[in-house]
Amino acid sequence: MGGAGSLLSWPTRLIQTMFHWVASKFGPVATTFTRLNPAGQDRHALIDFMTRNEFLFHGRPHPTAADVATSISEGAYRDEDNDSFWVDHSELGRIGFLRLEDLSDRSPLFDLRLDGPVRGRGLGVEILRAATTYVFDTMPDVTRFEGQTREDNIAMRKTFVRCGWLKEAHYRDGWPVAGGAPMASVAYSILRRDWESGHTTTFIWDDLVDS
Ligand SMILES: CC(C)(COP(=O)(O)OP(=O)(O)OC[C@H]1O[C@@H](n2cnc3c(N)ncnc32)[C@H](O)[C@@H]1OP(=O)(O)O)[C@@H](O)C(=O)NCCC(=O)NCCS
Repeated sequence: MGGAGSLLSWPTRLIQTMFHWVASKFGPVATTFTRLNPAGQDRHALIDFMTRNEFLFHGRPHPTAADVATSISEGAYRDEDNDSFWVDHSELGRIGFLRLEDLSDRSPLFDLRLDGPVRGRGLGVEILRAATTYVFDTMPDVTRFEGQTREDNIAMRKTFVRCGWLKEAHYRDGWPVAGGAPMASVAYSILRRDWESGHTTTFIWDDLVDS
């Protein structure tokens, strides 16, 4: 054993050991996306994920296996407009699902769904940042990336704001609610140029106010 480490004094080695321990506990974590094959090898896991979780802010809060199977056969998870990914976390493993929508447009949308046990930890921020990087890095024609959610989905709305996305619309009564009054649909986006500069630009909302 004649490596450089053995030449270091014991205080230096102790500091190194402590550094590695701290880095492993609190160091940067990585979020990656694994493209899934909804009609093939991932079919069972996708149905399991969608049916074991609840999605209170989606049109279908408790999808059945038949609902998911129909969506798979209709191409909702993968066709020319849609593509789907597992969200993988370097420490927690597989933690969620991401679908990109309207991919034939220069302004795609997304649907992000975390697994129930990992919600409530603020992980949405790093995932949305990673998804934004993925979209702008791999899709050169895309100039803006959009998202919409129901007005009472505060967790998602805070995630948008924390990632530098700008609220652009508040569609009053735009979100039908089964058995209840409609709610608002709130739209956010990030521009490629804002993502590149790291600075969120805005616009004049009341630009035609009569004086
Ligand atoms: C939306 C989602 C991705 C957000 O992920 P998350 O990181 O787990 O979000 P959190 O629950 O940590 O909430 C983020 C922030 O909103 C706050 N928040 C959440 N619900 C809130 C509420 N009802 N009122 C006030 N604040 C609320 C949290 O306290 C947190 O703020 P803090 O960090 O200051 O404490 C995740 O909850 C999810 O997958 N939900 C189900 C699917 C869904 O609705 N997807 C959105 C469709 S695009």
